[in-house]
Amino acid sequence: MCGIVGYIGTKEAYPILIKGLKRLEYRGYDSAGVAVFNGKINLYKHKGKIKELEKFVSAKDIGGTLGIGHTRWATHGEPNDTNAHPHRSMNDLFTLVHNGIIENYADLKKDLIKQGYKFNSDTDTEILVNLVEFFYTREDDIDAETAVRMALTKVVGAYGIAVLCSEEPGTLIAARKGSPLVIGIGSNEYFVASDAAPIVEYTNNVVYMNDYDVAVIKNNKFTLKNLQNNPMSLTIEQLDLNIGELDKGGFDHFMLKEIFEQPKTIEDTFRGRLNPAKSEIVLGGLLDVMPKLAAAERLIIISCGTSWHAGLIGEYLIEEYAKIPVEVEYASEFRYRKPVIRKGDIVLAISQSGETADTLAAVEMAKDAGATILGICNVTGSTLSRVTEAGVYTHAGAEIGVASTKAFSAQVTVLIMLALKLAYVKGEISDKDYKDLIEELAAIPEKLKTILDNNDHIRSIAEKYKDSVNALYLGRGYLFPVALEGALKLKEISYIHAEGYPAGEMKHGPIALIDNNLPVIVVAPQDDYYEKILSNIREVKARRGNVITIVTEGDEKLKELSDDVITIPRSHPVMTPLLTVIPLQLFSYHTALMRGCNVDQPRNLAKSVTVE
Ligand code: AGP
Ligand code: GLU
Repeated sequence: MCGIVGYIGTKEAYPILIKGLKRLEYRGYDSAGVAVFNGKINLYKHKGKIKELEKFVSAKDIGGTLGIGHTRWATHGEPNDTNAHPHRSMNDLFTLVHNGIIENYADLKKDLIKQGYKFNSDTDTEILVNLVEFFYTREDDIDAETAVRMALTKVVGAYGIAVLCSEEPGTLIAARKGSPLVIGIGSNEYFVASDAAPIVEYTNNVVYMNDYDVAVIKNNKFTLKNLQNNPMSLTIEQLDLNIGELDKGGFDHFMLKEIFEQPKTIEDTFRGRLNPAKSEIVLGGLLDVMPKLAAAERLIIISCGTSWHAGLIGEYLIEEYAKIPVEVEYASEFRYRKPVIRKGDIVLAISQSGETADTLAAVEMAKDAGATILGICNVTGSTLSRVTEAGVYTHAGAEIGVASTKAFSAQVTVLIMLALKLAYVKGEISDKDYKDLIEELAAIPEKLKTILDNNDHIRSIAEKYKDSVNALYLGRGYLFPVALEGALKLKEISYIHAEGYPAGEMKHGPIALIDNNLPVIVVAPQDDYYEKILSNIREVKARRGNVITIVTEGDEKLKELSDDVITIPRSHPVMTPLLTVIPLQLFSYHTALMRGCNVDQPRNLAKSVTVE
């Protein structure tokens, strides 16, 4: 879930490792550590932030041009100094960092104990490093990479690892199964990292590792092989990442920057795809599969969290416009329940990171069952983008804040284009409606800017409700998933318990919660559901709930009924998720900030959830 950085070359490794770990901070972590080779392997690790590690390391021996670093997101054993990575083998022969989970660690541990091994930490990782050492010492004439490969054949679970051997000062080994790793190729230097962020300022040439790949950089030579020692072909790709995206760009937090970027994000997402002048939508990545998609009898969308909310909007869109039945599934459920998947089914996986373990596992399962797999993904070169038959990149740029904001808007933008294009191909939409909706989507970025201008007003509303213990979010139709997303944003970063509901469901339970301490945030622009949602608001008011509404500009009726109002420009109902989600993101941001929470790295959360 968290981060690996490795360096081998001619420069001092430590500054590169620390800077790289900081670039990966956004992924979420609880402790950090580094190991650098300088005659011997010096290892330093510390609970807490990278700053703590730096303090701990200062004035210690940290020279050397080969090293590995890690930010840990604890799965086995509490976050403390001992459990932090890197881990060393019992006889100091190997030092290793690991992302993921070794599922059969208990059995392996028993076997190693029989061989006389002792363990210091509670981690599964310490078992792996000792297993490598066990093979290394058991066999004659064996090199470090062979020992690593032998150990990995015994492992069940997920790993991204970087390994040093104290008897091989010129070797850096990395291996992957289930947990992403990228190799950066510089001139006489190589980098290993969990994603491209630590690499981009040194080189644009990268190799994305696949499952079961082992990368060996030895005496300035890079080879890629599989666990059986067969050479794997190297595909060097160019990074599609702008270093500017990795800075806050003058904003206090990445999350705020990313909220404010959304007018541009949406433009970047539809650039070259949406052509209002010609009334045309071109989704290049789906051209080949468009006939199959148009003929599909069923579409299954799989995703998690915010991407799942985007998927729900996709369901409403595709059913309304393209008339294809859609099911939206949590990937974590779909992969384990026994769903009916038929050969002709199309599965669309939506993921910002493209590395979410549940989504990837669900994709594999659907693939095995014969479905066609498509993806909507933000990160170029990510695992999802490589395991799908076709797909659409969202082009939202790097999203660093753990709470997803602009990636959601970009996903919804793609889904709007996809639904309209499918409707057009299938002859389900009139030319006039197609043209009007294309024009309306093109107009959305300007409309978003006017919502962002309300930031101060939204902050003042947050000030009023910041001490709430609970919050209820309501919406109908396209805005029900927006209510869910608003509630998720609030709980993720402010730790206020929040629930999102379809407004019509309120009287089937949540209405019992309403009293004068409960803020009820109602997403209520003027659409087909307006009269219905008006009744829901009256029901809340009758029970003395505090109502905050998001309304279409000029809506005096709702203004009167509400305690607080945020207005959005008038638009077509289909576009309202893009408009209404912005005030909800800002409301969460300000609330969290006023409560003293870490907005960009909320507790317990990781940016890409690469373990189950
Ligand atoms: C969003 O704010 C969350 N951090 C989380 O729900 C996220 O959307 C989910 O883990 C899915 O991630 P993905 O889009 O990268 O697959
Ligand atoms: N399972 C390992 C641990 O708990 C690695 C966790 C991680 O991915 O950071 O230490």
